Amino acid sequence: MASNITYKEFSDEKNYTAMSAEVMAVRARGDVPLACIRTYGCQQNVADSEKIKGMLSDMGFNFTEKTEDADFILFNTCAVREHAEDRVFGNVGALKNIKRKYPSVLIGLCGCMMEQKHVTDRLYKSFPFVGLVFGTHSLHKFPELFYNAVTVGKRVYETGVDDKTVYEGIPTRRDGTFKGWLPIMYGCNNFCTYCIVPYTRGRERSRKFEDVVNEAREMINAGYKDITLLGQNVNSYGKTLDEKKSFAELLAEIDKIEGDYWLRFMTSHPKDCSKELIDVIADSKHISTHLHLPFQSGNDRVLKAMNRHYDRVKYLDIINYAKERIPDLSLTSDVIVGFPGETYEEFLDTVSLVKEVEFTSLFTFIYSPREGTPAATMPDPYTHKQKTEWFAELLKVQEEIAAKRCASMIDRTVRVLVEGKTDKDGILTARTSGNIIVDFPGDESLIGQFVNVRITKARNWILNGELA
Ligand code: SAH
Ligand code: SF4
Ligand code: F3S
Repeated sequence: MASNITYKEFSDEKNYTAMSAEVMAVRARGDVPLACIRTYGCQQNVADSEKIKGMLSDMGFNFTEKTEDADFILFNTCAVREHAEDRVFGNVGALKNIKRKYPSVLIGLCGCMMEQKHVTDRLYKSFPFVGLVFGTHSLHKFPELFYNAVTVGKRVYETGVDDKTVYEGIPTRRDGTFKGWLPIMYGCNNFCTYCIVPYTRGRERSRKFEDVVNEAREMINAGYKDITLLGQNVNSYGKTLDEKKSFAELLAEIDKIEGDYWLRFMTSHPKDCSKELIDVIADSKHISTHLHLPFQSGNDRVLKAMNRHYDRVKYLDIINYAKERIPDLSLTSDVIVGFPGETYEEFLDTVSLVKEVEFTSLFTFIYSPREGTPAATMPDPYTHKQKTEWFAELLKVQEEIAAKRCASMIDRTVRVLVEGKTDKDGILTARTSGNIIVDFPGDESLIGQFVNVRITKARNWILNGELA
């Protein structure tokens, strides 16, 4: 399917970046303007924040973790569950005092919540101290929106734009130096009935094949050792491209790049997780032995009501094929408990699937109604208390599985990437290819390197080891 996606190079013809730098040099409280960017939600948001930081860097900003010290405060928000939204509203409310104390501070909000009209209406009415609001589709306009917000003296709101454009070349300031995110596509076309993402991120659009491969090469040459390809449904990568390319081909192409690195990806959707893709992983040199494949529910009626386009048998079929083809495969998944109308018996199908697959870890969520999604209007007869009990039951089952899986690692020697220090003196934290955390005593100079570690102890889902 060729599509009407357009590709544009990021440009700043009017030089808003330079003009903002001038304004901020005068307006900043310290020698250099400081920005505090707080990111909620998934890796897509983390990757977007890295672009915003890239643009802010070009505007002369340095960064701080403390809202108190910042001249510009920006929350990049998530709308996926009610809890995520409540946290944002609570934390924005707390910024009112900062604005009172330092009136020159600009407070901004961006991200998925800002693509929902009921949210921006509420903000406009109740949070007048928020000076800049923009949605996920307006990221490339950030320097201009920022300039307007600091010069015009009126609140700037830029939301609800549905742009089918892929912008390349937005400056990126990655948070890590050896672990990094690489977006390969934006948006989602799946419309799972519970999910807000297709409404907040718009239609699916893939970046061009060679743009992704080139960026991967740049990251590898710059010393990145753990690269995660990002998209809401990476398995459908390429569907909007004119040239016929699949996600499996993209992975295989990047895997050819010389270097010592791991390649990861998320999120895969079971409906188009092909055996060809599993074969590419199995035959690759760099792709990690970790597959995150959200199944959401183990019951076919519920899966249908969720609009997921696979059933239990198809899911298990791909899982079993992957287990056969990839030795030491580590599986993780997302699960929703208490989808509208899900009965206890149907929930037990989820439990039995969890027992059958034996995941390394699970991300488990209680269903949260999202305004504007089909599921939000479905009859939902079970109480939150009941759902919470089922949720606890599932967690208990998964804890036992995770403990058993971790215990089976004892005495094995595994390759890990050292990620940092723990709060315990002299203890480092690292991750296996299967994405399992291993803590071990070692010198800080090992951070950012691959080492071999012998596993000595398992504490639930965290392993302890020693340098081999
Ligand atoms: N694109 C990814 C996941 C995006 S959201 C995928 O399809 O797998 C991450 C997870 O949040 C989902 O997998 C789902 O388990 C959960 N989630 C999404 N909407 C939810 C809702 N309304 N209530 C509870 N959990 C939800
Ligand atoms: Fe949401 Fe489904 Fe798209 Fe994932 S695939 S982002 S769960 S609509
Ligand atoms: Fe949240 Fe948006 Fe990601 S809703 S989960 S930040 S795509």
